[in-house]
Amino acid sequence: MDKTTHFGFKSVAESEKAGKVAEVFHSVAQKYDVMNDLMSGGLHRIWKHFTLNTAGVRRGDKVLDIAGGTGDLARGWAKRVGKEGEVWLTDINSSMLTVGRDRLLDEGLMLPVSLADAEKLPFPDNYFNLVSVAFGLRNMTHKDAALAEMYRVLKPGGKLLVLEFSKVWKPLSPVYDFYSFKALPVMGKLVANDADSYQYLAESIRMHPDQETLKQLMLDAGFGKVDYHNLSAGVVALHKGFKF
Ligand SMILES: C[S@@+](CC[C@H](N)C(=O)[O-])C[C@H]1O[C@@H](n2cnc3c(N)ncnc32)[C@H](O)[C@@H]1O
Repeated sequence: MDKTTHFGFKSVAESEKAGKVAEVFHSVAQKYDVMNDLMSGGLHRIWKHFTLNTAGVRRGDKVLDIAGGTGDLARGWAKRVGKEGEVWLTDINSSMLTVGRDRLLDEGLMLPVSLADAEKLPFPDNYFNLVSVAFGLRNMTHKDAALAEMYRVLKPGGKLLVLEFSKVWKPLSPVYDFYSFKALPVMGKLVANDADSYQYLAESIRMHPDQETLKQLMLDAGFGKVDYHNLSAGVVALHKGFKF
């Protein structure tokens, strides 16, 4: 019998989760960027800037952005690695990837784009200097398999960056819960005509491993020197780990 996993607060068969996540992102793709700005009050831009600016990427580096969606990080990496570098924008969802690719093309950036499942990456071993995944790991059915793939495609000495919602500082959790479960679905309904997807967002954040648990998952996948930095009182955390 198929094992179960969570899809937000619901329990579903493991084989069903990716399809349900796909429905969410096909539904929100066109409104994804405007909703991100609205829901986070623009904070997601600061979290992504922090990620880009503390990564230590160099000109000429090869970078893989997993679950890259509409391309915020891929765009930032491309500016930093320059023409001699290589940046791949990848995602499992064709709607998100199409919005991302078109947006980058409109800005004059032509990056290689690949429809790719993080759990089965179509890249060779030891290829990238840096792998990033922003707000994507939470949606993956087998996080251990995805982290193992990220490890495989990194060069020795390469770095993984995981930017993800995390466990907020406890005194803030009542107000954060109110915002997540009352305001977000209403905004989703009004702007994207989709309350359910934003209810899933709030639930999936609560089901995601906290800072220390994700750190342990990365260590278990083989990463070394794993550490994290809380942003906005732990609403988000940036985890970093190296392949040695
Ligand atoms: C919240 S969006 C994040 C997009 C972008 N990284 C950002 O920070 O704005 C999550 C993305 O994860 C993608 N995703 C979910 N499961 C995935 C998987 N197994 N492999 C690759 N991408 C996946 C979704 O399609 C979606 O585009």
